[in-house]
Amino acid sequence: MSIQLDKIVVATRNSGKFIEIKKLLQETDIKLLSLSDFPEIPEVVEDGATFEDNALKKAKFVASSLGVTALADDSGLCVDALSGRPGVMSARYGGPNCNDMRRFVKLLEEMKEIGAGHRTASFVCVMALVAPDGEQRLFRGVCEGRILDEPRGTGGFGYDPIFYFEEFGMSFGEMDLDTKNRVSHRARALKMFADFVEESVKSKASQG
Ligand code: IMP
Repeated sequence: MSIQLDKIVVATRNSGKFIEIKKLLQETDIKLLSLSDFPEIPEVVEDGATFEDNALKKAKFVASSLGVTALADDSGLCVDALSGRPGVMSARYGGPNCNDMRRFVKLLEEMKEIGAGHRTASFVCVMALVAPDGEQRLFRGVCEGRILDEPRGTGGFGYDPIFYFEEFGMSFGEMDLDTKNRVSHRARALKMFADFVEESVKSKASQG
């Protein structure tokens, strides 16, 4: 069965993520479910080399297990001077005993010799929409910025306090959450997904 937009299972148990997606699609007739509705579905190991690999792996698994169209995401921080690291390893950077703060302190430490002009980085989020027959679409949201010398702000999570977002002239950690959630890499990928949904609904309607 190819991509169907009447019902989508979002491959997450994170209620924050699910609420964000629901909010964006509230004007549509799509019935949205999350993995919290399917406790029998196991976690998928995120061992891909790219965000695309991981998002597709999760969405494919859920779509084929449940026989419905599935949406999954993967995201992380890519530092140019570190050849894109931590990238897909963002959540695991520093090992299992690290919390968010230890992780960004470790990253600052790793970058302490890197000069001001070479600290560019981007937050990336890839969303994969996959049908049970394997038909797929990818949506990639990016926020460009640079890694600060020391943390600024206490908002957000993960690497937010050390990521200076050029467009807003402040760190993600200094932005209020509503603003960050409107402009983040995740919001951008989601917006592309929502635009795809809108286009699909329009073209279906015009075909009668
Ligand atoms: P996941 O896509 O939920 O698996 O997130 C991957 C990891 O990337 C998170 O655990 C964070 O370390 C990092 N990350 C992703 N998005 C953000 C963000 O918006 N702010 C800070 N860190 C993030």
